Amino acid sequence: MPARHPAVPSSDPSAPPASPGLVARLRAAGCVFAEDEAELLLAAARTPAELAALAGRRMAGLPLEHVLGWAGFCGHRMHVGPGVFVPRRRSEFLVHEAARHTRPGAVVVDLCCGSGALGAALAACAGPVELHAADIDPAAVRCARANVAAAGGHVHEGDLFAALPEELRGRIDVLLANVPYVPTQEVGLLPPEARDHEPRVALDGGADGLDVLRRVAGAAARWLAPGGVVLSETSERQAPAALRALTGGGLHARAERCAERAATVVLGTRPADVP
Ligand SMILES: C[S@@+](CC[C@H](N)C(=O)[O-])C[C@H]1O[C@@H](n2cnc3c(N)ncnc32)[C@H](O)[C@@H]1O
Repeated sequence: MPARHPAVPSSDPSAPPASPGLVARLRAAGCVFAEDEAELLLAAARTPAELAALAGRRMAGLPLEHVLGWAGFCGHRMHVGPGVFVPRRRSEFLVHEAARHTRPGAVVVDLCCGSGALGAALAACAGPVELHAADIDPAAVRCARANVAAAGGHVHEGDLFAALPEELRGRIDVLLANVPYVPTQEVGLLPPEARDHEPRVALDGGADGLDVLRRVAGAAARWLAPGGVVLSETSERQAPAALRALTGGGLHARAERCAERAATVVLGTRPADVP
């Protein structure tokens, strides 16, 4: 997995120039985008002591977004608390695809929401919508509350659909489900930033990475409105099996790929005429 590019572009005109010493120390610590990161740390720190503390945490291996407390996603700053999955730039493609299916007033659910960035970004670009987000991890739920509140959304805690209010059954127009999809054997191969600082429950998708997606696919038709759609990110390799899972759940399934972002999204639509 390539190094994540930092949250905002280096050409940010409001950013103060980074000191060559800080850049060199970040580079020596393995930060690939050291200049950009130095600018962001400098902009975040109010005093030299604060800058030293922030840079120290980064050089100790914490994800930049956890050090800053936010990640750039779809042009917005999303709050990301310690121990919460950092939304990936690749997932902007999932939001882009979801926006094509989102009409004003739609019921949108962001299941396995992590920071809540995907649902919040979708509401910002395709709203107004009725937004609900849910996650099993209390740290993610706390973080999502901060991001989703701005969109007037609601955040629920619990295991997949069991977290949702019963009144949403059969009413969901757009179901975002960026579930964990790393095969168990490959979790150890992830970069240390993910492996050591993001929770296992956010990464590990079981033997082939599709355990959680299969559970979502099996129940989605009962929660989607007629014509409603579920969207999920997978690897390109997993897409055929993911499509079979969606079809097995009674949905019309297809995949979309964005080469530029190296992103694959599978979509499952509930047929409009099936009760
Ligand atoms: C890959 S992260 C994605 C987070 C967010 N959707 C994003 O793209 O930034 C997967 C999320 O699924 C949550 N999760 C894993 N198993 C779950 C379950 N059974 N029920 C609800 N949430 C779950 C994790 O806590 C984690 O926040």
